[in-house]
Amino acid sequence: MATGRRSAPGGMLLLWAALLCFPGSWCFSELLFVKGPQDVIVTRRESVVLDCQAHGDAPVTVRWMKNGVKVPENDRISTLHNGSLYICEVGGRKGEQSDEGFYQCLALYKYGAILSQRAHLSIASNR
Ligand SMILES: *[C@@H]1O[C@H](CO)[C@@H](O)[C@H](O)[C@H]1NC(C)=O
Repeated sequence: MATGRRSAPGGMLLLWAALLCFPGSWCFSELLFVKGPQDVIVTRRESVVLDCQAHGDAPVTVRWMKNGVKVPENDRISTLHNGSLYICEVGGRKGEQSDEGFYQCLALYKYGAILSQRAHLSIASNR
């Protein structure tokens, strides 16, 4: 009977994981986006939700970047519990920076992080 020894693909996979995921480096295995942000056009003063859902070993944390820097959260902009970014009254009040730009979400877990594709948010003039 063929009990006992198995060939070693499992061992090989483990080795690959160890090579790709050493501490402090980027790791591209085992964490992936189920849903990333899409380009969107929003009418000024409307609200918008940008989706980001990552699958990987829990806990997975989602952060948002705009034009390459962290999105400042405030009374208008927040990250929802499901990872989506919610922007209320797009456009910004007078004197504030525009919400237009390229958004990306960053998903982090204990072995590393992945960055989503860029989604462009543009503001439609309403007249
Ligand atoms: C997250 O929650 C918001 C508000 O409930 C919803 O609009 C959005 O579609 C959700 N995102 C996902 C990926 O389910």
